[in-house]
Amino acid sequence: MCGIVGYLGKKEALPLVIDGLKYLEYRGYDSAGVAVHSGKKIEIVKAVGKINDLEQKLEQASGKGTCAIGHTRWATHGKPCLKNSHPHQNTDGNIVLVHNGIIENYGGLKIKLEEEGVVFKSETDTEVLVQLIGRYYDGDLAKAVIAALREVTGTYAIAVLAKDRPNEIVIAKKSAPLCIGIGKGENFFGSDAIAFIKHTNKVVYLKDGEVAVLTPKTVLIKNLQGKKVSYKVNNLSLDPSSIEKGEYPHFMLKEIYEQPRAIQDTLDGRISPQNDEVILTELDKYQEYLLGINKILIVACGTSWHAGLVAEYILEKHARIPVEVDYAAEFRYRFPVLDEKTLVLTISQSGETADTIAAIGEAQALGAKVLSIVNVPASTIARDSDMVIYTYAGREIGVASTKAFTTQLIVLSLFAVYLGRLHHSLDDAAASAILQNLKRVPNEIAKVFNEAKNIKKIAKAFHKHSNALYLGRGVGFPIALEGALKLKEISYIHAEGYPAAEMKHGPIALIDENMPTVVLAFKGRRYEKILGNIMEVKARKGKLIVIASESNDGIKRIADWVIHIPDASESISAILAVVPLQLLAYYIAVEKGCSVDQPRNLAKSVTVE
Ligand code: BG6
Repeated sequence: MCGIVGYLGKKEALPLVIDGLKYLEYRGYDSAGVAVHSGKKIEIVKAVGKINDLEQKLEQASGKGTCAIGHTRWATHGKPCLKNSHPHQNTDGNIVLVHNGIIENYGGLKIKLEEEGVVFKSETDTEVLVQLIGRYYDGDLAKAVIAALREVTGTYAIAVLAKDRPNEIVIAKKSAPLCIGIGKGENFFGSDAIAFIKHTNKVVYLKDGEVAVLTPKTVLIKNLQGKKVSYKVNNLSLDPSSIEKGEYPHFMLKEIYEQPRAIQDTLDGRISPQNDEVILTELDKYQEYLLGINKILIVACGTSWHAGLVAEYILEKHARIPVEVDYAAEFRYRFPVLDEKTLVLTISQSGETADTIAAIGEAQALGAKVLSIVNVPASTIARDSDMVIYTYAGREIGVASTKAFTTQLIVLSLFAVYLGRLHHSLDDAAASAILQNLKRVPNEIAKVFNEAKNIKKIAKAFHKHSNALYLGRGVGFPIALEGALKLKEISYIHAEGYPAAEMKHGPIALIDENMPTVVLAFKGRRYEKILGNIMEVKARKGKLIVIASESNDGIKRIADWVIHIPDASESISAILAVVPLQLLAYYIAVEKGCSVDQPRNLAKSVTVE
């Protein structure tokens, strides 16, 4: 998923667009490009790699003009190279376009256009769209864009310039995020308001099938029938420091250390003063519906899917309702069995993951209500869902999710108690015990940071390995999966998470003195069993890194390395135990000199299916 941004007004556009692209780089960093309208001509500058590479190339360019569009790419069609970089232009160069999304029927359209003599310069699906617009252009850019969009299928957030219309940008969206920033005598747009929020907090979220004509002073929105439609201006609040690294070398480390605050913000106002009730007013008008549900289907992607796996354990335990967990894309196409008594619970940090958005549509079409746990306010998933519970992690910029994950576990724990109370499957004492434990999490996570030095040493010892195994039991299993994912995401070391008992049925074959094995062995009714698994790894000379409860000193005699977390219940230990796994992956990636915040091939939210 790419990022697009643009500006038109009185100021020099290029610096504003470059600055906006830097904030959108979490969306993709295979190549970048800009198109600046000088009033007479459109200057295009593109570069493979990151925005910094583009800035170097721009030193040779004029870049003068008060109207510009920009793009940062995550390659889908056509490898990362200059000719596939955006902006793209039509054959005679009078139409220029940037695009986030996939034109699914580009193959057929390309053949038709080639038969009509069009010569394509790139391997992208996007170039088909700019050639189509060029085909329809007769001086009215919005009309040409609408005519072209009526021929394409797929997803798009686009911005288009025409050489002979210097003070106009036409943008359009379908199943990819796009919003407008309304200024005084100037206007912005971006895939994410973060691209222009420093300049205006007046934000219009474009809806699917809408086309907007921007000039410095006006915003006109039309539908694909060319009819004018009204729009709502939202006043967005964003603390600018949340989008700066501050004294941290990486956003990921900053976001790991923000977890106590993020969790406190997510807990605030949601536990009654007597500690026996969960307050989720956003669900008040759905209490009757929630009382009638007999199945919960959780769908999500990536790290959010791991949070869903943890939720399966705690929801079935406290609410006694059967839970299934599915990857959003698999759910979407597997003919799931659900009805109006099924609650579909989606989890997403960004609220823009295309697979999850599509799963919501599918679930609602099948009669289920959708509750979503989302971190980004007013995101597509938040807008499309029947009920939304926000995590308050604040903006998460590091591509590998950290604070969003732990705040998701907090909200899921609150929801499990809420549902358990509603279904009378959780009594006062049990509910109160869980809620008091949750309240202690921010301080306990702060204690885990005392292990940072120890974890750094372990990272030094293990960063040269090319494989790793993560083992856990019960709620420890999804946490093992998350630990393995963190290592894969940012250090490119192959790692697998496994239920510890399952190790004996296969993965144990991988274990020798070169296989570091991380084991989650916190106190609880499964401890003796996991100790057995630790001994099985030791018996095969596996190198053991054990996450253990602080009162467990004896484990030092068995493990090669021990990382202690505060003593807590199993479900709280699971939340605490992910923090050392985040730090371990982080320090290993730093030791390897990897691009921690922008790991190769990844992006913060995947807005294409
Ligand atoms: C991936 C991100 O693109 O999407 C992961 O790199 C994330 O960090 C996954 O977990 C799901 O995203 P979201 O925003 O739906 O939770």
